Amino acid sequence: MNKIKISAPATIANLVCGFDILGLAINHPQDEMEMQLTKEAGIKITHIDNYSLPTEPTKNVAGAALLALMEEYPDKNIGFEIIVNKLIKPGSGLGSSAASSAGAVVGANYLLSNYFTKHDLVRFAMHGEKVASGVKHADNITPCIYGGITLIRSIFPLDIVPLSAPPMYVTVVHPQIEVKTSDARQILRKEVALKDAIKQWGNVAGLVAGFLQNDYDLISRSLEDVIIEPIRSILIPEFDKIKMQCKEAGALGGGISGSGPSVFMLSKEECTAKKVEQIMKDIYDKIGVDYHTHVTTINNEGVKIN
Ligand code: HSE
Repeated sequence: MNKIKISAPATIANLVCGFDILGLAINHPQDEMEMQLTKEAGIKITHIDNYSLPTEPTKNVAGAALLALMEEYPDKNIGFEIIVNKLIKPGSGLGSSAASSAGAVVGANYLLSNYFTKHDLVRFAMHGEKVASGVKHADNITPCIYGGITLIRSIFPLDIVPLSAPPMYVTVVHPQIEVKTSDARQILRKEVALKDAIKQWGNVAGLVAGFLQNDYDLISRSLEDVIIEPIRSILIPEFDKIKMQCKEAGALGGGISGSGPSVFMLSKEECTAKKVEQIMKDIYDKIGVDYHTHVTTINNEGVKIN
C-alpha cells in the first residue's frame, strides 16, 4: 500500500459560550503526517517536529486513537507506520492533540478502504484526547474530522450535529506561553449558578441560530461566556484589552480558543480581521510578550488526504 499524506486543521473549541460542545475548523495552521499500512501488527510513530512528544503508542495521542480503531477492526494482522510533523504547537489551544488523533484515524480509515464511519472515527480519536487532557472531549476532534462548525449535543452517547454558517474570517493570536488543557480544566468551578446557566443557554441557542440563519448580529450578541471565561481569562495576558479593542474595531466577537492561551476573533470582512490582527500585535508588542498570529477562514473539509 502506498504512503499517504495527511493534513489536519487546527480547531477552535468552545466558540466562547459552548464549553465542550461547539467547535470550528480553520484553514491555518495544519499538522502534516505521512502514513502507511504495514504487514507487521503494531504502530510505529515518528515525530519530525521539535516537541519531544512520546512515541509509545499508548502514550501518544495519535497512537491511542489508532489503538482504539484497531480494536474494532476485524483483521488483527495490520499495523501502521506514521510520521508526524506538528505545525500546530501543543498547548496552544488550537486543537493540536485533536489534529494528531483525528489525522491518524482518518488516514488509517482511508488505508482500510473507509471501513468506518466519520462518527466512529470521532469515537476513536476521543481516546487521543483522553491521553492529552485526561478527558474524552470531542469539540476539537469533530470539526477537525467533519470540517466547518459542529455541535456535540451529547458526548455519551455521541450525538454530532454539523452546523452551517455564513462566511467568516478568523483572527488568532497565540501568546507564546503554554496552558495545559488539564490545568485549565482543573481551575474551573464544578457548580454553576442558575442565573449564569440561563444566560449561557440563551447565548448557545442564539449562537447556533445565528449560524444557521446567517445572522451576523445575532452571532455577535451571542459570543458571550459568563461561566468559563471569567476564570480562564486570568491566565491570558491582556485578555480583556484584546477583546474590547478588537470589538471596537468591528470584530463580531471572540474569546479564548479552547482552553487557551490563544485568543480568537470572528469578523465578517477580511479587512476587519486584519485590523484585529494588528491590534493584537500592538498589545503584545507593548508588553513584550512573544506571539504568533493567523488570519484565516473556516475550513469546511476537515482532515484531508493528499
Ligand atoms: N473544551 C475543551 C476545554 C477544549 O475548553 O477544556 C480544549 O481544547
